[in-house]
Amino acid sequence: MNPDRRVSVKVSQAKKLSDEDIDRIVELLKAVFKDDPFDAMLVGGDLSLQPLQIRSTVEAAAIAGIVHIASAPSLSQDADNQKDGTTNPGQLVGVALSFGPGQALNATMEQRAAGWDAFLGVIPESLRSWWDDYYGPLVSTGAKEAFGHDYRDRALKLSLFGVLPDHRGMGVGKALFLAIEDEAKQGRCPIVLQTQTETNVKIYTKLGFETKKATVVESSFGCSDFWFMEKRLRSGSSGRAPDA
Ligand SMILES: CC(C)(COP(=O)(O)OP(=O)(O)OC[C@H]1O[C@@H](n2cnc3c(N)ncnc32)[C@H](O)[C@@H]1OP(=O)(O)O)[C@@H](O)C(=O)NCCC(=O)NCCS
Repeated sequence: MNPDRRVSVKVSQAKKLSDEDIDRIVELLKAVFKDDPFDAMLVGGDLSLQPLQIRSTVEAAAIAGIVHIASAPSLSQDADNQKDGTTNPGQLVGVALSFGPGQALNATMEQRAAGWDAFLGVIPESLRSWWDDYYGPLVSTGAKEAFGHDYRDRALKLSLFGVLPDHRGMGVGKALFLAIEDEAKQGRCPIVLQTQTETNVKIYTKLGFETKKATVVESSFGCSDFWFMEKRLRSGSSGRAPDA
């Protein structure tokens, strides 16, 4: 990372999310994934469905997950502050949604009722069957092969991770990741994720992840490489490696 581009960032864990907090996080993630081709596949090419799909993940994480948010001065404010020396409260620029050992995205009826069921209720049958019969099983089987059959019980799963486009490459993602890593150290567990671009693989590799499995996801709306990555924390200092 170029030190000149680093921005001052504050990361906190949001313990209880109000409806307004959830709205703000959904808005942020819509901006993060606005032009993301893989996200377009997740909604069957109908971008009007994207807010509901994103909301379902945020609502589920608010119930059973771990929500880290990153704030930083807006870039124009940052420049102004350097001139007059004042500070400002900052804007939401990044978020990470993860699930600890024993918890998983949409694994309970309560989580699904909070958002996922609404998404399923409005999507066409073809997209529903893509999720149920193809993508869901592909991810589930792939993750077990990559991380071990009981990874859900033993790993911290990083489900959604994003920084606003104009704040990328400035250390926000790393600051969020260090907070997640602290969580994993406390739970003495590895961190696992799935990702879809070579750039992200480079970023995650710099953050200490290794690729455990690579595959391809297909749909009528495109096809994407898909990587399963894991970071095992060093024994002695922190995490315990899975048996897989
Ligand atoms: C992935 C993402 C969250 C990373 O956040 P970020 O704030 O840009 O990351 P950082 O600036 O903290 O960089 C983290 C590390 O990756 C490196 N990095 C950042 N952008 C990079 C790029 N485009 N290519 C290669 N390395 C890069 C940095 O140099 C840094 O490593 P270092 O500490 O060894 O220098 C962000 O790029 C993003 O929101 N991407 C779009 C959404 C997405 O794909 N999310 C992941 C879904 S799995």
